[in-house]
Amino acid sequence: MTKIALVTGANKGIGKEIARQLGERGFRVLVGSRDLRRGEVAVRELVAEGLDVVGLQLDVTDPVSVRAAVERVSAYGRLDVLVNNAAIIPEGDDAVTRIGAEVLRSAFETNVVGLVAVTQAFLPLLEKAGQARIVNLSTSLASFAQVGDPESRMSTVLTLGYNASKAAVNMVTVMLANELRGTGILVNAADPGNCATDMGGWTAQRTPAQGAAVAVELATLNAAGPTGHVYAAAGRLPW
Ligand SMILES: NC(=O)c1ccc[n+]([C@@H]2O[C@H](COP(=O)([O-])OP(=O)(O)OC[C@H]3O[C@@H](n4cnc5c(N)ncnc54)[C@H](OP(=O)(O)O)[C@@H]3O)[C@@H](O)[C@H]2O)c1
Repeated sequence: MTKIALVTGANKGIGKEIARQLGERGFRVLVGSRDLRRGEVAVRELVAEGLDVVGLQLDVTDPVSVRAAVERVSAYGRLDVLVNNAAIIPEGDDAVTRIGAEVLRSAFETNVVGLVAVTQAFLPLLEKAGQARIVNLSTSLASFAQVGDPESRMSTVLTLGYNASKAAVNMVTVMLANELRGTGILVNAADPGNCATDMGGWTAQRTPAQGAAVAVELATLNAAGPTGHVYAAAGRLPW
């Protein structure tokens, strides 16, 4: 039976690469994109590579869009993998001493509230899959250990909205893993490392494909796999 995976924000960057790599592993991949036309461009590219991918309009901040997406996916009867990849670094993101309230709010709206809303909405379909996997995209910029180390490059990145919202994603990951322990659903977070994308900057050393690999591993864990942790390519990340 073909397994079904949904990747949010999969029209470009790391999300598109996660979709590609899950497709290469035999999944039917639903390419979530808030702009369906941008999504269709990615879908055409992946279909041309012989992959089983389908576009799905999904704006994680729009409850109507989330409901409609659940409705469409329910035609499959289940969802085996949910990758919560969509995220923003809002325009004007800044240091604690300078950031505007609206900017801070918008980071949490997409990166945390949207992620939780999508996860809650798809949970019944994930439960129907029996052994579903949930992967949340995190970052070293959410690590208290790394940002708290004055010698670390992470301590110099002054984007409170992004860093704090992704730290909240880590807590969502731990709490959801606890809530779903024993159900067969494993929940982990992936730090792709700094990758060359619109978000990561085009001078970053890692490719989106390298960044995607961690999330794909977590999306395809066997039943004995871990739950409630955050992983980077080098292994578990310190909180
Ligand atoms: N790149 C890095 O260096 C890096 C490092 C650590 C963690 N990460 C994480 O990896 C993930 C992917 O990052 P990336 O570098 O690939 O970023 P990206 O190139 O900016 O892509 C972000 C994706 O999220 C989508 N998105 C934003 N808001 C959305 C919404 N409301 N609803 C649905 N989709 C939405 C974007 O859609 P549009 O095209 O419509 O804007 C786009 O498809 C993110 O969670 C990011 O925090 C990235």
